Amino acid sequence: MAVPAYAVVPRAETLASSCPMTSKITSSNSTNMAKSLVPTRLSSSAWITGQRFCVNSFSSKSSVSSSSGTGQATTITMTATMPPKADRKVSGLYVPHETHKQVLHSIPPSKLEIVQSLDTWAEETLLPFLKPVDKCWQPQDHLPEPSSEGFYEEVKELRARAAELPDDYLVVLVGDMITEEALPTYQTMLNTLDGTKDETGASLTPWGVWTRAWTAEENRHGDLLNKYLYLTGRVNMRSIEKTIQYLIGSGMDPQTENNPYLGFVYTSFQERATFISHGNTARHAKDFGDAKLATICGLIAADERRHENAYSKIVEKLFEVDPDGAMLAFGDMMRKKIAMPAHLMYDGVDQNLFSNFSMVAQRTGTYTARDYADILEHLVARWNVPKIEGLSGEGRRAQEFVCTLAPRIRKLDERAQLKPKRSPKTGPFSWIFDREVQMW
Ligand SMILES: [Fe+2]
Ligand SMILES: [Fe+2]
Repeated sequence: MAVPAYAVVPRAETLASSCPMTSKITSSNSTNMAKSLVPTRLSSSAWITGQRFCVNSFSSKSSVSSSSGTGQATTITMTATMPPKADRKVSGLYVPHETHKQVLHSIPPSKLEIVQSLDTWAEETLLPFLKPVDKCWQPQDHLPEPSSEGFYEEVKELRARAAELPDDYLVVLVGDMITEEALPTYQTMLNTLDGTKDETGASLTPWGVWTRAWTAEENRHGDLLNKYLYLTGRVNMRSIEKTIQYLIGSGMDPQTENNPYLGFVYTSFQERATFISHGNTARHAKDFGDAKLATICGLIAADERRHENAYSKIVEKLFEVDPDGAMLAFGDMMRKKIAMPAHLMYDGVDQNLFSNFSMVAQRTGTYTARDYADILEHLVARWNVPKIEGLSGEGRRAQEFVCTLAPRIRKLDERAQLKPKRSPKTGPFSWIFDREVQMW
């Protein structure tokens, strides 16, 4: 496999410098700054909306991104989450509205070699997590068959079942479907990772094979949910399609620095988050009397679980061959917080669409701040993090940080629950023809 040139290329200066809330640190003070990363003031929804550096969520001193610790530090600039709203449309074009100053190619050559030495391991251990196409379910297995006589009757039944689904459930399901439909972005993200990217588009390395087959499996999720929701007649498909187009156009900003250590921590977390979310939409569909939709969401959740196991296995291997590097990567991603993949969603109307969708997901118990803490705790146990020995000083600090973070998030969430309840707030969602849904 070709070795990508090692380079740290700063970019996004224009956006960063145009933001009044930008600050800069240099490598010389990054360690001191890293010590002040502990969140001091936190709203529970910030953990699920992934709005890093939101001034409502962190004290100003903690607004910092560091390099992964697995590579060299560089000049690092942080931007606040939201530039002025007026900046989001320029000459009719939508401008992605969350951009951090990026650290690129942070994996040093010695660690890149470690990753490249895992090809045989990936062939033998990672690829078996994929399912042969013939053994996979396909969207059509769970949709009315358009070539059959009974098609119209099946559609009628589907619509009768879907008529019972409440609007807040539909909003969450649509948000989940839109997240799935932005799959080109996630394949792009995987192909930013040094040492594991698909270099040719048809690369025969196990990493290239994995990435394409993973994408192909994931592609069924958005297809099935999209077609199902279309047939229900309950949602505004044009608005949903616009949101998908905007979202793919915006991309995502997971701050994984082209670094496979960071990238696979991110995907391990993210696949578990989608497993939980789809598992909950399955349970809720059953409660609302739509058993077929429950099956659909359950099947998707099972795929996410299998993918989570695969990505977790990669990080487990990194912990085995490079415990310090893996620990630093885990700590770094958790300090930055895991941004949800669809955090840049926009429908052309609602400037706070992702945050509003996240609030509905939180209120309906589909994906909550507690889930974020549970996932973190699960990964800490899965990788046996408290027991890892032989770490550097920085590695031990990262270990301490990740091992104590989940209880801290829980405590903050409990404190938020104890606060006097705010009067309920509703808001319209274009996805359901501007009908109002309770957000809290
Ligand atoms: Fe998926
Ligand atoms: Fe997934």
